Amino acid sequence: MKRRIFIQRAALGSVGVSVGAAILACAETKKENTAAIVAKGNGKIALPVVIATWDVKRATEKAWKSLQEGKSALDAIIDGCGVEEANAEGQSVGIGGLPDREGRVTLDACVMNENGDYGAVVCMEHIKHPIAVAKKVMEETPHVLLAAVGAEEFAVSKGFKRENLLTDASRKAWEEWKKTSKYKPIINIENHDTIGMLAVDKNGNISGGCTTSGLAYKMSGRVGDSAIIGAGLFVDNEIGAATATGLGEEVLKTVGSFLIVELMRQGKTPQEACEEAVKRVINKSPNFEDFQVGYIAVNKKGETGAYSIHEGFMTTTYQGGRNEAVHPDFYNKK
Ligand code: GLY
Repeated sequence: MKRRIFIQRAALGSVGVSVGAAILACAETKKENTAAIVAKGNGKIALPVVIATWDVKRATEKAWKSLQEGKSALDAIIDGCGVEEANAEGQSVGIGGLPDREGRVTLDACVMNENGDYGAVVCMEHIKHPIAVAKKVMEETPHVLLAAVGAEEFAVSKGFKRENLLTDASRKAWEEWKKTSKYKPIINIENHDTIGMLAVDKNGNISGGCTTSGLAYKMSGRVGDSAIIGAGLFVDNEIGAATATGLGEEVLKTVGSFLIVELMRQGKTPQEACEEAVKRVINKSPNFEDFQVGYIAVNKKGETGAYSIHEGFMTTTYQGGRNEAVHPDFYNKK
């Protein structure tokens, strides 16, 4: 996965249409698709489905395969996100993530499962798979969120290996940034910073996960939205799930993922709900031209949606045996 990706906007144009294409593909590739088919409107939605922020086809493929092997939606997400966390060339999650302004790589991640259980770590150093540690927090502690040294020590006690997560490439980028930045973090609108992934298994059970190194060159101790439930991720197994990417401060202020799930509860499609959540951010932030926020969502039937403030956001959907990354629709079109 490259940090800077400019892929031609897919002719299909929107995730909604892309899902339609996936559905057609599904009909043509029945052999590959052993999933249940749930009738919906004038089409058919294939379960299982995996959807993630950004162009992370290797990650969604891994998650899809884990689902086909009979793993739970949550374990599939841990496996899928783990692909990118272990990718030292990626500079947004896990090893190789861009550091804070002191040069420390600090990671945030969370998971939420079909039972509404939640686990998270924030500001954790030296452990490249924070999403797997978040699951351990959820399953093996009486708490839901561990921070910093406590999270790291917990991870080590569970067998995770301490590693230097600052790669040469990320160290060089940080050193370059220090020359001119005056310690201002980079708030960009075209590069991604977070992998959020949602999965619905063949029985319609939903889980989600979100993992990030956060805002590049952030202040020491800064925590964004990704590990904060309701902001970076929310799952309600009766309704659906949503997850976010982009400037965490803005997602936190509008509790975007919870909002999307609640809007779906009120009858909005995943696409409509993502669009409304982005509009809430825009309405509250006069400087919305200067940052990116993007959401993805899925409902219980496997319908998906995605929307962002700016062009450049991508989402990958693996559904009906087809793994496809597209640029979703976006707000700031003109
Ligand atoms: N969305 C990731 C962060 O702001 O930390």
